[in-house]
Parts: sequence; structure tokens; C-alpha cells
Amino acid sequence: MLKRTHTCGEPKSELIGKEIILNGWCGSVRDHGGLVFVNLRDRYGVTQTVIDPKETPNLIESAKSLRSEDVIAVKGSLRSRPEGQLNKNMPTGEVELLVKELVILNRANTPPFEIEDDTNASEELRLKYRYLDLRRPALQKILMLRHKAANITRNYLSDHNFLEIETPILTKSTPEGARDYLVPSRISKGHFYALPQSPQLFKQLLMVAGFDRYFQIVKCFRDEDLRADRQPEFTQIDCEMSFIDREDIYNIMEGLIVLLWKECKGVELKRPFERLAYKDAVARFGSDRPDRRIPWELQDVTTIFKGSGFKAFASVVESGSIIKAINIKNHADKFSRKDLDTAGEFVKAYGAKGVASLKGIDKFLGDAEKQALKSELKIEENDIVLLVGDKPKVVNDSLGALRVDLGKKFKSFDVNKIDLLWVTDFPLMEFDEKDQRHVSLHHPFTAPNPEDLHFMDTDATKARALAYDLVMNGSELGGGSIRIHDRAIQQKVFDLLKITREEAKKRFGFLLEALEFGAPPHGGIAFGLDRIIMMLAGTDSIRDVIAFPKTTSASDLMSDAPSDVDPAQLKELGIKI
Ligand code: AMO
Repeated sequence: MLKRTHTCGEPKSELIGKEIILNGWCGSVRDHGGLVFVNLRDRYGVTQTVIDPKETPNLIESAKSLRSEDVIAVKGSLRSRPEGQLNKNMPTGEVELLVKELVILNRANTPPFEIEDDTNASEELRLKYRYLDLRRPALQKILMLRHKAANITRNYLSDHNFLEIETPILTKSTPEGARDYLVPSRISKGHFYALPQSPQLFKQLLMVAGFDRYFQIVKCFRDEDLRADRQPEFTQIDCEMSFIDREDIYNIMEGLIVLLWKECKGVELKRPFERLAYKDAVARFGSDRPDRRIPWELQDVTTIFKGSGFKAFASVVESGSIIKAINIKNHADKFSRKDLDTAGEFVKAYGAKGVASLKGIDKFLGDAEKQALKSELKIEENDIVLLVGDKPKVVNDSLGALRVDLGKKFKSFDVNKIDLLWVTDFPLMEFDEKDQRHVSLHHPFTAPNPEDLHFMDTDATKARALAYDLVMNGSELGGGSIRIHDRAIQQKVFDLLKITREEAKKRFGFLLEALEFGAPPHGGIAFGLDRIIMMLAGTDSIRDVIAFPKTTSASDLMSDAPSDVDPAQLKELGIKI
């Protein structure tokens, strides 16, 4: 075979006059008055090749038979393109290969869609033929970027004394809050492994074992409702450190993020990253992962509506709930009646009854109320004010999400801007009214802030955790915490979560036991590698950054997984369906 001497991305003017061999896939094949032009592609680029019947009459027949995606080898001499045919948009656009030998290595069936970046093929079709989709330069670029980012991460962490240590995939349930994927055991019938939702328990055990700085680029599995930035199997950059406090984690991890953005995007991020306490994030943006590029903030106007002529809000205040507003500056003329209806529908998904516009309720308000709102919300000509009244969680969730939705719809910010911050001081627990018990905001091994330990006996929801998330442009890139290394505090947390001693022993007894064999103070963090790549690549879909992703219904359209299995296999596992 004609083995390549160069890739299809290499031919540039320095090689003019040289004899070279290229291997690759045929893109468009064009016949121009006898001359046949073939764009030859591999993952490094595209080079134009030309077969001239005057030079090689013997090749013209097979050249004309070429179809897109055929695999060929060509040998020829590189020459500059004739005047007027230069293509400035193509890295190899100054040159072309005049073909002297042509070998067809393999023919391709007609592909179900054209292999080009601007494809309008449906995502379903592209996922079914993912190996063809992955030939598109845009996706190849992202996977190369992913490799580069993973490499930078490994090198950076290794340089800082972290060891990459693998942890089991067939394991026991880790309490990260999602449903587990279970794997039945053949040998112990009726028993199951769980795929890890994260290596959380094992990385803590590695600290007990004395490995003091651990990392792993690792697959995690969660059976949860999928969204644009969630997959059932995804990859974490998982880290854990001993003998450290929060500042050490921020410091080392900021170094990594800064390096990734510098090397992959040429962007200098400012250090130290800003920090915002959870309660302020929720108060001002209605969310623990605020996108502060959007200019409008939530403002609490509950007291203004006390005894209001607008009865709906007056009764919200009376029932102890709250009312918050956002002032969308200078948008009244752009905000239609239909936009208001859409917003009303939008907030219902978050449990709100609807959204009020100040203009819509103006007629029910007294002068004092109007004046108070005007000065509190700094209302000017052409502003539009939207309000939601309900329980605090409903108001924050719904108005927070509406703020982001409208911010994007009205293009209220510069998309090239990066908003990066640590959200800190999360509450350790929330109270679940339905189950009448506390639930962890992170996981049950997160340490309470020592200053707040006393709240654990009075109102545990007031205790802050030593937990932190890294948020970029409204997306949670990573999260972690300092862990509990004291058995008594761990027990107190389990008690509040209503995890009984027997249950705790059964589920993570091995960790609890380990904590009593000289566990060092430790803490860590895990980043979503997929989400970091989404940010670096500037894509909204997590499927763009994973070679073989699943659909939103968690299936793989190419291999057709999940699928039924042979009854004999089930029998062997002792499973009846
Ligand atoms: P957490 O559950 O916050 O923490 O996960 C860490 C990060 O992983 C990413 N992530 C996901 N990415 C894609 N699809 C998903 N389904 C998905 N779920 C999570 C997010 C998230 O910030 N063990 C702890 C970490 C620790 O405490 O050290 C943990 O897993 O970017």
C-alpha cells in the first residue's frame, strides 16, 4: 500500500515541489472540464488533490468513480494553486496535490448524511451513525480538545504530587443523591453491585491509607433525569487531599482551571476567583449557581405588599411567604403580552402559580406602595418589572430560572464574558417536609463548619457546611467539601438524616470503621470533565463532548443499548422478569 508521508493537514507552501503521499477519506469529488478535484480529509485537515487527464490518462477512470467517504491513497507532487483559486479559509488553501498514483483502499456506501460541519441531519440519525458523525471536523476538534484538557489535568496534578489511583466500578452504592445502576451478581444470587455515582467513599479510604493527594479521571454513573448538561455516565476529575483546609483546595484547583483556560483557549482568568456565600447567591439570583453576566437581580419586596390592595400578594405576605421582583431595565418596549404569557407558563414548571407584571397590577396599588416599589427597584422609563409571590423556595427557583431564560432570550450580556466564582457556605442540610427528615445538600460525609456545630442540636438547617461549588456562567463545573473525620460528628449527621446505626453500618460501615483507624483531616472536590469541555468548546450540549453519548432517554441509538438479554443469562443470574 501507499503509506502516507504526511497528514492531510500538513501540505503548506513550504512543501511545494515535494513528492508526498496522502491517505484519507474523499470529501467532495468535482469534475471540472476533465480535471477531477478530490478534497482528501483526515483528522488533521483537508488537502485538495487534482487528477489531470493530460498528465495521468490512466487514472482518470478510477478518479471519476470516486464517491464521498471512499478511502484512498494518493502520491503526487505538491504545487501552488493557480492564481484566483487560493482559498484563504483553508489552512492548506494555497496548495494542491497533482496526483501521479491513486490507490482505492476501500469503497464506502453512500453515507446517510453528508460529512460536513453545517449538517442539517437530525441528531437521531447522527447518533445512529455516530462513527460517521465523528468524522465531522467540528466533533473531531472537540475530542482533540478533550484529550488535551485531560492531559493538562494529569500533568498539572502529577506535578503537584497527586497520584492517579483507580477505584472499583463494581462496588457498593455511594450516596450522591441519584438512583444507582445495579449489576446482578451471578455467584451471589440475589445480590447486586452498584456502579459508583462517584468514587467518594474510596477516595476517603485512600486518605486513611495515607495517599494524601489523590486524583482520578473517572467514569461515574447516575440514573437520573437527563438534561442538556447531564449524562447517565459522565467523567469526573476527582480529587482528594489530606492535612488541608478549604483555602488549599481553592488554591490548587484555581491553578488547574486557570491553566486549562490559558492552554486551551488562550484566556487569562483572574485569580483569586470571586466567592459568594450560598445565602447571598440565592437571595440575589435565586440560584446556587448564578449566572452573573445577566444584569438583573432578584429583590425582596415582601414588606411593601403588606396589606396591599393587590389581594393575591397581600395574602402571600399574610401566610408568611415572600414576594420577589426583577426589574428588566429598558425592555418594556420589547416585552410583549405574549412574552408575559410565556413567562407565566415558564414559572409553573417551578411550582409558581404565575408571574405578575407591575404594569398589570398597578391599578390595585396605592400611591405609597407604588412610590416604595419605584425607589426600591429603581424603576425608570421603559423598565419592566416582574414579580412572583410564594414560598421562598418556589419564588427563588422560578424567578431565578426566569431571569436566566429572559437574560438569554433578550441577549442581555456579552457571550464572550466569563463569570467564574466559588459558591461557598452551603447549608449542611435541608429539611424534607414530605419525609419529615433532614437531607444532605452535598453528601453525608461533608463536614459542618465548626462555628456552627451548636446548631446541630437546635436547628440543623442553620449549620453551614465546609462545602463549595465552582460555577461558571451559571453551570456547576465542580463541587466538594472538607469531610468529617470524627466518628462522633459523623454519627450526629446520620442521626439527623435518620439513617439508623444498622443502616449506616450496612451501607458504609467500612468507611465508618476506617475513620476510627487514624483518619487524617481531609477534603476534596470533583469537576465534571464533560462540563469543562462544554465550556471550553462553547457548546450547549453535553453530547457534543462525548464520543458515544446516550440520548435523553438514556439509550444508545447506535448499539441499541439497553436491550433485552438471553433468557439463559437471566436464569444464570437468578432473575425473573
Ligand atoms: P457532585 O455530585 O457535585 O460531587 O459531582 C461533581 C461534578 O460532576 C458533574 N456531574 C455531572 N456531569 C454530567 N452528568 C451528570 N449526570 C453529572 N452529575 C454530576 C458536575 C458536578 O459539579 N463526590 C462528590 C465530589 C466531592 O465531594 O469531592 C461529587 O460527586 O460538574
